[in-house]
Amino acid sequence: MNKTQVEELIYQALETELGGVQVYRSAVACAQNDDLKKEWQKYGRQTQEHVLVLMNVCEKLGMDPEKQTAGRRIVREKGKSLVAAMEKALSAGPSLAAAQLVAAECVIDAETKDHMNWELIGEVAKKAPANAKQVLTEAYDAVEDEEDEHLYHTQGWARELWLDSLGLPAVLPPPEEERDVKSAMEEAQVMQERKGKDTSKERPGPAKSADKSKPMPRGSNGGDKARRRSV
Ligand SMILES: [Fe+2]
Ligand SMILES: [Fe+2]
Repeated sequence: MNKTQVEELIYQALETELGGVQVYRSAVACAQNDDLKKEWQKYGRQTQEHVLVLMNVCEKLGMDPEKQTAGRRIVREKGKSLVAAMEKALSAGPSLAAAQLVAAECVIDAETKDHMNWELIGEVAKKAPANAKQVLTEAYDAVEDEEDEHLYHTQGWARELWLDSLGLPAVLPPPEEERDVKSAMEEAQVMQERKGKDTSKERPGPAKSADKSKPMPRGSNGGDKARRRSV
């Protein structure tokens, strides 16, 4: 494994979490929906914990958490740009509802990077030497489920808030909240069911098949995560 690049990943992950704390601070200020505001407040607190988890990883692996790399600086600049976009939307946007949509998209941008960082940390952990393997596995296990929630649930919020703003049928809070979606497979299933629901309203026709309309049990595990963990 490329040790320098593994360290780069950890530095970028730490910077992503540091930026994430700021992103959530701004996103909460933009949130109009009470449920969404509470959700982002919770994610912000979890992101602060993730900073500590990665500081601990740095300490245990003998890395300097203050070390700057070119890639880390880019991550910081991108985080700042997301905060700036939300501040601009709040101060000069067409409406507070518009600022909320901007914030949802900014959170998705930040969480897409955050989620991928942890997926990669999980992959590194599988192949790392004994000491690093234990440190990275413990960190990954502590954070991974929360990262799934941050990304997939916010994607649901963004989609449903956009639908609502368009005057189209929307489900708020989004199905991702109700189902506690925590995998790409569960998210794909929600999307498929949402498409089926909307289509049936707009174009009357044959009923959807039983399988497509059957609700997924709350908290059920998607196969992709099970597969990912077994690799
Ligand atoms: Fe995080
Ligand atoms: Fe996150």
